[in-house]
Amino acid sequence: MEHVTRRNVLKATAGAGALLAAGSATPWTWSPAGSVPGTGTGADPKKAWDPEPDELIADVYKRGDVGKVNRALRAWTKNEQPLPAGLSGDLRDFVERSRRLPAWADRDKLADAVTFNQKRGTYLGALYGFASGMMSAVIPHEARAVYYSRGGAQMKDRISKTAKLGYDIGSLNAYAPSGEMSVTCVKTRLIHSAVRHLLPQSAHWSSVSGQTVPITQADMMVTWHSLPTTVMRMLNRWQVPLKHAESEGFLHSWQVAGHMLGIEDQYIPATWATAETQAKQVLDPVLKATPEGIEIADMLRDLGMQLDLTLLSRGVLGSLTRFMLGDKIANDLRIPREPVWDPLLNAAWGPFTLVREGVLQAGMPKEAYWTFDEMLRQFVLLYMAELRMPISIELPGGNNPH
Ligand code: HEM
Repeated sequence: MEHVTRRNVLKATAGAGALLAAGSATPWTWSPAGSVPGTGTGADPKKAWDPEPDELIADVYKRGDVGKVNRALRAWTKNEQPLPAGLSGDLRDFVERSRRLPAWADRDKLADAVTFNQKRGTYLGALYGFASGMMSAVIPHEARAVYYSRGGAQMKDRISKTAKLGYDIGSLNAYAPSGEMSVTCVKTRLIHSAVRHLLPQSAHWSSVSGQTVPITQADMMVTWHSLPTTVMRMLNRWQVPLKHAESEGFLHSWQVAGHMLGIEDQYIPATWATAETQAKQVLDPVLKATPEGIEIADMLRDLGMQLDLTLLSRGVLGSLTRFMLGDKIANDLRIPREPVWDPLLNAAWGPFTLVREGVLQAGMPKEAYWTFDEMLRQFVLLYMAELRMPISIELPGGNNPH
């Protein structure tokens, strides 16, 4: 594989901005009738961002208060914890309002989500990490935003922070007073506002993105689908038996997350069926490798190496990407074929999940079963290792300096 460097990424992307701008002109046609409130203005989410925090955070940067706000945010970790003194004025009011769950949040459904996460946690590490994570490399707006923002220079750190959200949403007390999910969502919402302020100042991002300001409402829904919708698609494809209440609970926990991250309710799907319709319109057609995404995918495949997790080597992670996201995306990401793992996953993963779930009594060699089971366990280890250090989601000081 040609080695991907920042310089040849920049060379290859020159002039791509106009093309991308043309690509993002496809109109948004999904109706708010399929959304949580079942109604809405239907305003084009490609031209909408998150105005209130965007303005507040832009002011924080202009006043030079980033350090002060970060110190205050660091001390705020629990959903019901009073806000630290360092947050003041309009920003404090905004955080107080936006930490509250939406009126439509349903405690019973959130409890069902906890059961789902407990029962399916073993798959979730692999799915969030390698289906959703790799998909972010083929969502051009996201890949470019990540690559040219501060996080692009510190991928390991960024992955830990994203893993924190996956962990918080799946924890027992996610949205309960002692949990951390509401805090993580509100902080992430502020980080996204920071990115909207900072990235337009990046000449690199501006020349290739085809956008004037990143992370639109539409972009957030696209990324949302790379998470719960993609996880659900995979579990269905693998025929993992799911109780109706649990899959509804899982959806609900992500609907609430979407709201808390600043997505307008009129764009958040009410059901798996309307989520699927929206994903077919807005996620599937945009998936495409970019030079930035190729480099991100390259870095992601090195994750297991750092912990010496033998079943999560570069080759296996590449093969898993091919298995989950298909040949086209894997080829576009320049992931090499794996002569042993590609056929093994294709032939044996289906029977493995069926045996594991008790749907089939036998039907696969013990060694293959053990290998896959161990692989899932190593994903959990990787995931937990990401979370071992205290993780603080904070406003970045600038863009990617390289
Ligand atoms: C930061 C999650 C949508 C681009 C973050 C962080 C989290 C997160 C947890 C904090 C991690 C950190 O500070 O590094 C999510 C979720 C989304 C979403 C759950 C949707 C449901 C998007 C979209 C884009 C985007 C649509 C771009 C198109 C970024 C960038 C950062 C960030 C550039 C900052 C990275 C840095 O410089 O540190 N996001 N995000 N995100 N997100 Fe998102």
